[in-house]
Amino acid sequence: MAVIADRCPHIQVTVVDLNEARVAAWNDPDLTKLPVYEPGLDAVVGRCRGRNLHFSTAVELAIAAADMVFLSVNTPTKTKGVGAGQASDLRWIEASARQVAACAQGHTIVVEKSTLPVRTADTVKAILSAAQGDIAGAGAPKTFSVLSNPEFLAEGTAIPDLEAPDRVLIGGEDPAAIEALASVYGQWVPQERILRTNLWSSELSKLTANAFLAQRISSINSIAALCEATGADVNEVAHAIGTDSRIGSKFLKAGPGFGGSCFQKDILNLVYLCGHYGLHDVAAYWQSVVELNSWQQHRIARLVVQRLFGTVTGKRLAILGFAFKADTNDTREAPAIRICQDLLEEDARLAIYDPKVPEAQIAADLGCTSSSSAEGSWHSASSPAEAVADADAVLILTEWTSFAELNWQELAPLMRKPAWLFDARSIANLAAARAAGLQVWRVGSGVK
Ligand code: UGA
Repeated sequence: MAVIADRCPHIQVTVVDLNEARVAAWNDPDLTKLPVYEPGLDAVVGRCRGRNLHFSTAVELAIAAADMVFLSVNTPTKTKGVGAGQASDLRWIEASARQVAACAQGHTIVVEKSTLPVRTADTVKAILSAAQGDIAGAGAPKTFSVLSNPEFLAEGTAIPDLEAPDRVLIGGEDPAAIEALASVYGQWVPQERILRTNLWSSELSKLTANAFLAQRISSINSIAALCEATGADVNEVAHAIGTDSRIGSKFLKAGPGFGGSCFQKDILNLVYLCGHYGLHDVAAYWQSVVELNSWQQHRIARLVVQRLFGTVTGKRLAILGFAFKADTNDTREAPAIRICQDLLEEDARLAIYDPKVPEAQIAADLGCTSSSSAEGSWHSASSPAEAVADADAVLILTEWTSFAELNWQELAPLMRKPAWLFDARSIANLAAARAAGLQVWRVGSGVK
């Protein structure tokens, strides 16, 4: 919404939320205090806020005044009831649709921005059509058009992704509504990149795009394990296959498995949908992408234990990186969580350093406070040097650029010998680490 406001100064954009603290944070004069860390976002918000970008808790007023409403609420995986563990929880979408139905005035275009199961627009339309024709105040009768406009930005690169998207996807049935939304994006996105489809294709394309991206990561991680066993190098294999223009070079980086709020959730949702439509083999196919991802995370924890003479009980291990990827403070489904939990289960003592993730977040993710456990325990370190002091091993779990520049000549002497570097992101200067006396494991490297 901030980028729309930035690129369309003639449009008033109001972002509403029921959460007062969150809205207050978005309105904080100190732009470093925005609730989301995203490179470049502070500058965009700084340019537009108060001009044509507003953050408010006045939900009903904003809906009444709007020509277009974007439903951008979260749709987490259900934790109980029918479809628990797979289906998306649509309670907030339904509540938002009901609120729009109640408060809208005149004609309103309702845009599904949240990632949703296919045919959710049916639900939204049913709720809105129950209010169709009602007259609010002295205004015109209510009418609605529903569009699907999924978001393809990735965290960490959100602003460039939005400013120069590969494509914008608009699904709908009402040509006038589609063109109204297309004209918003048309302010800065070339026409040939604005794709128009039917509602269901648009909803399904979002899930499919994420499923394909995640599948590439599971595929390359499966090959990484084979590389380690055979003496091949996954970076060389990825380069060799990625130069085939039909395969392409992106999303072929082996690592500790994918994290983030989307991939697993969206694939599980796809699995649920396939099951719902009786396509059980298709469901099993996509389920395996998620299973391989968990396997990769457990595999890394296991091999750390094996290299450290089969036990990490009481040993200090430095964990560098907790966010699910670099350039974000987001830890949702971060591979570091599962790997740390496995090591805590083995009674290791972890010293965790991440440049952007606060200790309270790590505690929430690990389900225990820093010193709570008698056996396995963790604490947060304020620098890589503090984390590695007296450690038997250091694990790199997020690809922060600063980890590529670590000075192993300085860090290695702080560790207990024999000491290991486990580079799950293939980012560290391994030659320097070896020269400094460390034993080294890198994901997907079978070269002895
Ligand atoms: C992902 C998609 O890339 C976006 O297109 C989509 O809009 C978004 O989900 C969403 O549905 O909201 P995001 O989760 O922010 O974006 O991050 P990605 O860059 O896709 O990375 C996801 C995970 O895969 C990270 O843990 C990352 O480290 C890992 N990854 C990515 C790899 O292990 N290897 C790669 O080659 C690429």
